[in-house]
Amino acid sequence: MKLQPQRQISSSLLLPGDKSISHRCLILSSLAQGISILKNVSLGKDVLSTQNILKTLGRKIENITPSDLKVHGEGLFFNPVFTCAEKPSVFLDCGNAGTLMRLMMGVLSGQTFSSTLIGDESLQQRPMDRVADPLRSLNACIELQNRRAPVRIFPSKLKGHSLQLQVPSAQVKSAVMLAALYAEAPVEIESSFLTRDHTENLFPYYGIRIEKKSPTGLRIFPHPPIHPVNYTIPSDPSAAAFWLVAAAISSQPLTVTSVGLNPSRLGFLDVFKACGLSIQTAFNTLTPEPVGTIFFRPQTYQGFEIPKNMLPRLIDEIPILCLLASQAQTDSIIHDAEELRFKETDRIVAIENLFHSLGMQVHVENHTLKIPGQQKIKGGCVDSMKDHRIAMTAAIASYACHEVIEIQNAESAEISDPYFWKNIFSQKSQAPGGVFIERVLE
Ligand code: S3P
Repeated sequence: MKLQPQRQISSSLLLPGDKSISHRCLILSSLAQGISILKNVSLGKDVLSTQNILKTLGRKIENITPSDLKVHGEGLFFNPVFTCAEKPSVFLDCGNAGTLMRLMMGVLSGQTFSSTLIGDESLQQRPMDRVADPLRSLNACIELQNRRAPVRIFPSKLKGHSLQLQVPSAQVKSAVMLAALYAEAPVEIESSFLTRDHTENLFPYYGIRIEKKSPTGLRIFPHPPIHPVNYTIPSDPSAAAFWLVAAAISSQPLTVTSVGLNPSRLGFLDVFKACGLSIQTAFNTLTPEPVGTIFFRPQTYQGFEIPKNMLPRLIDEIPILCLLASQAQTDSIIHDAEELRFKETDRIVAIENLFHSLGMQVHVENHTLKIPGQQKIKGGCVDSMKDHRIAMTAAIASYACHEVIEIQNAESAEISDPYFWKNIFSQKSQAPGGVFIERVLE
């Protein structure tokens, strides 16, 4: 896809439902006893994979509208239809969705049949032992291939246990929380990192009893009755982050409404504030998830520093924050971001490629990124490496570039944001010479 310099951000931005919350709500609604109505479910490809897997496992999911769903929950245990009666086992394709694979490892560990989780080329490269190991400490029976997918899960009796998480990952924590629903006794989870807490917020909303022992310590009680819900999923702050950076680098005001304001996701807004950018939030709702409005007013801004302990609160926003940094008045630094190496791509390498393709600099030492400010963005061709957040970052760069940016594998944006390209093209952009330009597709 070729993108001409972009000028105005669309006045009617469409944002998808939050991806993390959509995955969790679909899974929990399937495990509930009764019908849940979920509104504003993400239509990104990752969450469509979740719908497909739950349907393969025998749950009925009906569309009221494309993003409003009626999920027929039938309790904790699935009863899939097996093609081979002698060796009952199911194959489940997670596509590109790491969250889906990891959460389902927790759920499937407690089932009475065997299953195999597979994914696309990128997902099959990502580490799954970080989830398998803590699940094995509950007695789960999981086989990996070279620490990665395909993940084969066999039935076993899960036991109560106290465990300490080793990786700063909400996916790992949530997989253990879901497996704990099937254990014979309570499961205690302790970690030394604060990670996104959607599962903690949603469990009580679905009637599942948990005890918070400390800010990072939990006890989950097994075999709860799970109540169906009627819930509107907030819009995804990670999708909003791209447009807020577009606004910052092209000096435009922007207001984003009905967006998730869970503090465990809003590290990027703290970075905006630390840079001297004007951000205000107003809350409409607080439970089960905070939701409200973000108001942004543009002004010149300084570079920023992100320490390691802040990373879980903005891990998905690092690529777009690097772009923000490149247009700041001063230099920026992101410390020790090794976790980026385990995302849809090695995102440190993907960010370096993106920057170099657009004539910009980023200096990487080990896992630390140093980004000079006041950089000129040149036109060029960026390979997104099929990573949605890299494709979207390259596209947003066109809001501060006077030349054409070409993006390879641009369609990968639809993994998390099915509306991204519509938002880009919903308004004709004006070239520096004042001529309207139509979009040019590959
Ligand atoms: C997610 C957690 C994060 C994030 C991912 C979604 C989740 O991963 O990068 O996009 O929904 O729990 P980790 O918690 O593994 O870092």
